[in-house]
Amino acid sequence: MAVRSNFVWLTLALSLSDLSCNASPVRQRAAVPDGFYAAPYYPTPYGGWEDSWKDSYAKAQALVGKMTLAEKTNITGGSGMFMGNPCVGNSGSAYRVGFPQLCLQDGALGVGNTDHNTAFPAGITTGATFDKDLIYARAVAIGKEFRGKGAHVFLGPSVGPLGRKPLGGRNWEGFGADPVLQGIAGALTIKGVQEQGVIATIKHFIGNEQEMYRILWPFADGVHAGVGAAMTSYNAVNGSAASQNAYLINNLLKDELGFQGFVMSDWLSHISGVASALAGLDMSMPGDTQIPLFGGSLWKFHLTEAALNGSVPVDRLNDMATRIVAPWYQFGQDKNFPAVNFHSYVSSEKGLLYPGAVPVSPIGKVNWFVDVQADHGSVARQVAQDAITLLKNDDNFLPLSTKSSLGIFGSDARVDPAGPNACGSRACNKGTLGMGWGSGVANYPYFDDPITAIKKRVENVKLYDSDDFPHTLTPSPTDDDIAIVFINSAAGENSLTVEGNHGDRDNDKFSAWHNGDKLVQKAAENYKNVIVVVHTVGPLILEPWIDLPSVKAVLFAHLPGQEAGESLANVLFGDVSPSGHLPYSITKKENDLPDSVTKLVKEIIGQPQDTYSEGLYIDYRWLNKQGIKPRYAFGHGLSYTTFNYTDAHIKIVNALSSALPPARQPKPSVAILSTEIPPASEAYEPADFSKVWRYIYSWLSKSDADKAYAVGTSSSSKSGSQIYPYPEGYSTVQKPGVPAGGGQGGNPALFDTILELDVTVQNTGSRHKGKASVQAYVQFPTDSEYDTPIIQLRDFAKTKELGTGESETVTLRLRRKDLSVWDTQKQNWVAPGALGANGKSKRYIVWLGEGSDKLFTRCFSDTLVCERGVEPPV
Ligand code: BGC
Repeated sequence: MAVRSNFVWLTLALSLSDLSCNASPVRQRAAVPDGFYAAPYYPTPYGGWEDSWKDSYAKAQALVGKMTLAEKTNITGGSGMFMGNPCVGNSGSAYRVGFPQLCLQDGALGVGNTDHNTAFPAGITTGATFDKDLIYARAVAIGKEFRGKGAHVFLGPSVGPLGRKPLGGRNWEGFGADPVLQGIAGALTIKGVQEQGVIATIKHFIGNEQEMYRILWPFADGVHAGVGAAMTSYNAVNGSAASQNAYLINNLLKDELGFQGFVMSDWLSHISGVASALAGLDMSMPGDTQIPLFGGSLWKFHLTEAALNGSVPVDRLNDMATRIVAPWYQFGQDKNFPAVNFHSYVSSEKGLLYPGAVPVSPIGKVNWFVDVQADHGSVARQVAQDAITLLKNDDNFLPLSTKSSLGIFGSDARVDPAGPNACGSRACNKGTLGMGWGSGVANYPYFDDPITAIKKRVENVKLYDSDDFPHTLTPSPTDDDIAIVFINSAAGENSLTVEGNHGDRDNDKFSAWHNGDKLVQKAAENYKNVIVVVHTVGPLILEPWIDLPSVKAVLFAHLPGQEAGESLANVLFGDVSPSGHLPYSITKKENDLPDSVTKLVKEIIGQPQDTYSEGLYIDYRWLNKQGIKPRYAFGHGLSYTTFNYTDAHIKIVNALSSALPPARQPKPSVAILSTEIPPASEAYEPADFSKVWRYIYSWLSKSDADKAYAVGTSSSSKSGSQIYPYPEGYSTVQKPGVPAGGGQGGNPALFDTILELDVTVQNTGSRHKGKASVQAYVQFPTDSEYDTPIIQLRDFAKTKELGTGESETVTLRLRRKDLSVWDTQKQNWVAPGALGANGKSKRYIVWLGEGSDKLFTRCFSDTLVCERGVEPPV
């Protein structure tokens, strides 16, 4: 039996490191700074009132109505790490009534821990395409692969972390350091995946990055797209762990954002029994206590007990179970959903059915090697190619001729000689960097590396397979010879350390790994013409070499997944023009950004606090406010051709007749199941059942069940507080709903299109075809009372490939939300500007450009005039 790399041990290590780094109740926290408070919000709002979910809820409620108490508590928790269905998370089943175990599987860039799957480009690469169609196409392919493998729940997209901290280890799983880029890409990913009948999971709610609403933004867009599941984060927010933070889950996610699906804990971050249920958590993953593999759980049998003794209201449990069953109906998983056909921990055909129960686990067939790749490699290649971002191209040095004589430098040019999957969870950096490391990876089915693709095109190529520049070059380079230098920078999840980087880039920081800067400098000393190709999880500081005269061109290829070679060669040799744009800014020095984002909070003991003193000002928002010019700004990306943008128009689609959105409609009431404590017999462990060692079940012994039931139904305990010390603000009466809510993602009016802009893009070059990306940035009224970044991305559109002289008109849309500011006093979104010719003051300006520092046209919301050739505000 072959184990899938060292995943088992890595995951275990992960869990233990979570214990040491995250929200453990037994550890002492540093004090939460004054003024930060996780306000109570009870009870958990019911799901099922939103129109598009009503049918699924009706079916779900009918099914949950047939479940016994132990069946309901069974489906709300995992069966334990490495137990049962062989996915990274496996919920309990209620087979008697026809509800299966759900298979929950990583990762955000493809089906993880299996075979015959596609390893798509990472989120950060996908964001760099600035191409909605491609983002969606990747999601459709990912959704098909998850379904093909029998995985019900895709543990992605990741939109938190948002990229607030450029050195953060997991930014690459998401789409870029901007809430709108994350929001649009996350929502399209959810749509594409869920249309294939797979439940998407928006995560991690909410990262290291909460208390400002900008961070909530991509989650709101994801909920608006109808996401079926959400995962909480490991950290605490305002002093309360995210998995039991009633303000976050009950108030923000389920009330204000109107989330209709279920909320799961991140792996082993579930830290309380009753408190988390009351705070709105619906599923405990993978089911264990913080110390896994011993069959312990905070829910399952304990939740059964808590329902019987009255500490968790049956009403809440019904809602938890219904929220889990409803997405299963919503995405058609009740009909013809394939059985799980792979195993996360075993790569051979047969293996342990319950690896966590070794040595007593039975053995059986666990892998069917189902090939789900179809033609998805071409989608992966297109994304990788269209993400490649040309930062610099002196004298139009690129594209190259295939007659060139090339010296290729750096181990990043070729695949790891031990194979692309040699390191478990991709936790090493020994060849072309196609992805970061940790749970967000997938196995490569093959790896198309750059050197192979280059050699296919060019005869005269020599690879210097080292990260040190050779002492002698034979023959020595002529003036016409070209060096292509490959450098990289990796990051991943903190359970694994690679070359001194503990997940975050805390060792190499903003420098390329393996002394990459030196390699470029040396190449630039020896060659007249140097091209630098960078595979990276995020921004690097390029100052050590960017201005050297021989450094002619720089390409950021981000993290291309399996399709690193042809995608790059197509750009290098001009089969296509580069069309990617930076999903973050590249500063000249680290302290161009504030310490609160560039410094990693690092303490071995205690739970440190991370205060968001930069407010809304991350990335280009900070740089613009401080008047700091970065080396390359957010959104920057060159092409081999040139584009002209003419005929810009702005029109009002819907009136913005009031600063506040119209008052939300009263929340429709929903039918509920009986709230009576059920008979204890519904929890009795069956007499003839043979239990698997360490497997987590939801039954109680007869005596424990009877005892709990007696407590729950005694007249003294009915008043409630004797049973459990309920938190401040505890209530069981459903609230009418906060004013900012009313639909999925918030007040439905926030999603009304208010302004529509179009602009005609023409390829004005004479030699190359190419795609252009138009980005729309809003400038809020300068005379409003709100402090807003000077410009903020609000929409983007990419053209098709335009031949020379060809043009296309693209349309961009701004919704009420895009024109609003979160008012912390009013607790609502306020639109501070005016539309139409009547309001000369307080107008919005929408800037159109091909980068946050290349704004060429401005359009006014009041006069509805667009003009070119004006000085941009940044
Ligand atoms: C990660 C999640 C992942 C889960 C399951 C956790 O460590 O934070 O993103 O989905 O593990 O592998």
